[in-house]
Amino acid sequence: MQFPKDFLWGGAIAANQIEGAYNSDGKGLSVQDVTPRGWRERPTETPTSDNMKLEAIDFYHRYKEDIRLFAEMGFKVFRLSIAWSRIFPNGDEHTPNEAGLAFYDDLFDECHKYGIEPLVTLSHYETPLHLSKEYDGWRNRELIGFFEHYARTVFLRYKGKVKYWLTFNEINSIAHTPLLSGGIYTPKEELTEQDLYQAIHHELVASARVVKACHDILPDAQIGCMILGMPVYPLTPQPEDVMKALQTERENYYFSDIQVRGYYPSYSKRLLKEKGIELVITPEDIGDLKHTVDFVSFSYYMSTCESSNPDHKGGEGNIIGGVPNPYLEASEWGWQIDPVGLRFYLNTLYDRYQKPVFIVENGLGAVDELITLPDGTKTVLDDYRIAYLNDHLVQVGEAIKDGVPIMGYTAWGCIDLVSFTTAELKKRYGFIYVDRHDDGSGTFKRFKKKSFSWYKEVIASNGTSLK
Ligand code: BG6
Repeated sequence: MQFPKDFLWGGAIAANQIEGAYNSDGKGLSVQDVTPRGWRERPTETPTSDNMKLEAIDFYHRYKEDIRLFAEMGFKVFRLSIAWSRIFPNGDEHTPNEAGLAFYDDLFDECHKYGIEPLVTLSHYETPLHLSKEYDGWRNRELIGFFEHYARTVFLRYKGKVKYWLTFNEINSIAHTPLLSGGIYTPKEELTEQDLYQAIHHELVASARVVKACHDILPDAQIGCMILGMPVYPLTPQPEDVMKALQTERENYYFSDIQVRGYYPSYSKRLLKEKGIELVITPEDIGDLKHTVDFVSFSYYMSTCESSNPDHKGGEGNIIGGVPNPYLEASEWGWQIDPVGLRFYLNTLYDRYQKPVFIVENGLGAVDELITLPDGTKTVLDDYRIAYLNDHLVQVGEAIKDGVPIMGYTAWGCIDLVSFTTAELKKRYGFIYVDRHDDGSGTFKRFKKKSFSWYKEVIASNGTSLK
């Protein structure tokens, strides 16, 4: 395996899944603080104690210890998100919350102490609740201005501290979870496709405006888009299945095509027309969209299949669903495991865009058992996770040999955190086990899993230890 010398090895998390301290130091509520069951449920009126995200793994108070552990593994990069509602508690204020800004200042300083580059997502499923309730999230054009103001504020503040930025996490997930992804308070069943696609347009314009702001304020930084990556295979070679797979893929490429190319793709005309949608696009929007990203980032957990036969109904997967592939095994949560799909997807993305790509999420969510070794050390023997990551990284190596310029790889949930889809702690991804459980028990103590030393070796050998 030959990884580039400057390959960015690391791990990834999101603020709402890890920080806790949901109302400390002036932070406002976000949509996550009122969704204790994850992406499917309607929000509660106020935060409830069964919401694991309120305390999460208490990273807000323990980040120094955690970053020291990431440094011990040799991380070159640490992907995190800024909680928008720590900086602007309601989202529509003019003046930022200084305590929120100071928290991330310290966090970035701590990363740099160990030579770790932060990779920062501006919006990772954590829209301020006020913007959701009062404006109906991204349905409202005013959010473009609020988001741009927030982004400009953090670009100016963290100048010199952050070189890599992402606009919206998994921007293509909005149709599946309009509340958590798009801050849209209107229930999914009542949301028209007209309103949904208008909201998407607002997000895409906001993303492009923020790309421009980043280029203006931070000429040495790079900013990327972030998509939920999922190759879609036809279930059979039947031409109708192949066509159906292409159409489903386009519903996802719709987002990155605009973010990377700077204009609506030709297929979007028919796609919108058949859904009966007429978008309001101003001449200024068209100009704004021309500000395109520097690189393409994505999450990868699984591939899926499509079938033209309506009887072939699918699994759940990473929100988007699809028809299960008969050749693949699935994780305990039913996510089909497909390392070769990652190589395929990396190649497809590069063929499509000719931009550097960055794998900013990949990993295995599993139930882990903390055991005590004869010498008294507590650990998790997570060989299943090592196998999963090894097999995916081998395919990353293959894609590099194929000629794809890959900037780096950040393993998802490098420390155990609250899951996004189901808001539970029992689904663990980390190299570091956190003693914290769904019934609210636990000491928050951290323990190194077997995968901790495995990943350390992978990084130290720059991938040559992979098998
Ligand atoms: C991605 C999200 O959808 O998948 C993450 O960007 C999320 O926030 C990850 O945690 C894994 O999903 P889950 O539900 O297993 O946490």
